[in-house]
Amino acid sequence: MKGVILAGGLGKRLEPLTRITNKHLLPVYGKPMIYYPIQTLVDAGIKDILIVTGGNHAGEFLRLLGNGSEFGLKAINYTYQKGEGGIAEALKLAEHFSDNDKIVVILGDNLIEKSIKHYVQDFSKQPKGAKILLKKVDDPERFGVPELKGNKIIEIEEKPKRPKSKYAVTGIYMYDSKVFNVIKTLKPSGRGELEITDVNNEYIKRGEMTFSVLDGWWSDCGTHESLLRANNLVAGKKEL
Ligand code: G1P
Repeated sequence: MKGVILAGGLGKRLEPLTRITNKHLLPVYGKPMIYYPIQTLVDAGIKDILIVTGGNHAGEFLRLLGNGSEFGLKAINYTYQKGEGGIAEALKLAEHFSDNDKIVVILGDNLIEKSIKHYVQDFSKQPKGAKILLKKVDDPERFGVPELKGNKIIEIEEKPKRPKSKYAVTGIYMYDSKVFNVIKTLKPSGRGELEITDVNNEYIKRGEMTFSVLDGWWSDCGTHESLLRANNLVAGKKEL
């Protein structure tokens, strides 16, 4: 299986921190943010990694990470997203790289405590479709939120005002190679982006989506509060 890290976007919610650099290069405790999702994939046994970046600071990723030898990798692949077309549009750029293999996608600002290796192994045995990881949170309205019935997901709503569960869809997604055909059918959302939630809802509609509840802590770093929380969690401090 191959790994894709999505590290584009303008990080507007982190202004002014992101005015002169990319969100994923900001520090989280002792390392630049992007180090954590790379390590997550490497720890899951994935050695073939593509980083999708964008904006004015894309060159800095190469300067920072080089060929990934710090992570025991032989090479890292890079590609560039023009503009701000959303997560699913960024993922589209991984089609050539994926070469019909299954992929694990991780958002570059998603940090976790434990290994995802067993989820990835489960998905490698799954004959087709997709798999997502959920996590119970206090503020589901900030995320994609699943509506659950028994052990099934009925639908995911992106940033709902009235969330139908206490779970967030984390930014760790596993897809078969049909994901690129699904992306080609998407229309931009209200915020003008191709939404990863629409990709996931298509797999749900087809009855090809599985999910697990993620073990250990999880944090995004999209806001000042969540960036601070991620720093504290990585530092091993108790949650405030
Ligand atoms: C994105 C996804 C959302 C998901 C979240 C996880 O949100 O759209 O469904 O729950 O990542 O971090 P964004 O960070 O773009 O607001």
